[in-house]
Amino acid sequence: MYVKRQKGWEIPERLATPESVYLNRRQILAASGFGMAAAAFPRLASAETDPSADLYPAPRNSKYTIEREVTPEAINTNYNNFYEFGTHKNIASAAEALPIRPWEVKIDGLVETEITTDFDTLIRKMPLEERLYRHRCVEAWSMTVPWTGFPVAELVKFAKPLGDATYLRMETFMMPDVATGQKQIWYPWPYVEGISMAEATNDLAFLVTGAYGKPVAKSMGAPLRLHLPWKYGFKSIKSIVKFTFTDEQPVNFWQALAADEYGFWANVNPDVPHPRWSQASERDLTTNDRIPTVIFNGYGEYVADLYAGMEDQPIYM
Ligand code: MTE
Repeated sequence: MYVKRQKGWEIPERLATPESVYLNRRQILAASGFGMAAAAFPRLASAETDPSADLYPAPRNSKYTIEREVTPEAINTNYNNFYEFGTHKNIASAAEALPIRPWEVKIDGLVETEITTDFDTLIRKMPLEERLYRHRCVEAWSMTVPWTGFPVAELVKFAKPLGDATYLRMETFMMPDVATGQKQIWYPWPYVEGISMAEATNDLAFLVTGAYGKPVAKSMGAPLRLHLPWKYGFKSIKSIVKFTFTDEQPVNFWQALAADEYGFWANVNPDVPHPRWSQASERDLTTNDRIPTVIFNGYGEYVADLYAGMEDQPIYM
């Protein structure tokens, strides 16, 4: 995730090329300080307990199993984009500083009644399941992840939006003292993302609370993140504290930073290059193979209809 115009604060383009293009899998692990046999990163800080830990593992929904090999947890939890904790991939140890209990979630905007709920109360109202999803970053690397969570549609039902709500805006926490990336004032903090209501209520749109059969790691967006497997990964906002139903299309974090490179819709399409690199193929971090990218990341049967008649809009950036 890099912006084109070179300002004093921007990293040079040569450093911007995704590490995965250069590093093989073993090097990625070595670079992040982990071997294949490395234990999972310690999860909650000792003062924190996870009152929802008993909900894992959740039953797997076999509709969403896929042919690719699942990416080893040690790769996934140590090769992350989480700019609040750094602009590099090895943020796992910095992210451990994030206090995730208690964790309040606010639902506001065009809803019958505003709701503020504790995450552990909310999750018990939701039907948890495991889904295997492909995860494709705009930087042209991909993984396969066993997420646990619940459909965004269930949150929408719980929130009772008013009829004129057309978009769902989501926001990440703001804690510059622990997430020191947020002290970099040239970024438009807090991280924001948005989806249309039609996308939010699509079967595939998933709110993630766990991965690999346990609560999701902090580096991957604990305690609550989004995953939209047909879109570039930047849409999948981490560590969400607020859902706002609105009738205005939200401007997302990357769009606010570089609208000529990152758009609102961000659907995966191998035929529409990023302004500075091709999207025709991706590095599968599980095998380190370069594989062809597929339109809608292979999920066209579920989502192509959402964009019928929208060909005049930038739905692939
Ligand atoms: N959410 C927040 N709050 N901050 C971020 O920097 N990065 C995004 C997305 N969600 C990001 C975020 C990007 S660019 C990607 S590719 C995915 O998270 C990465 O998810 P992963 O680290 O679990 O692979």
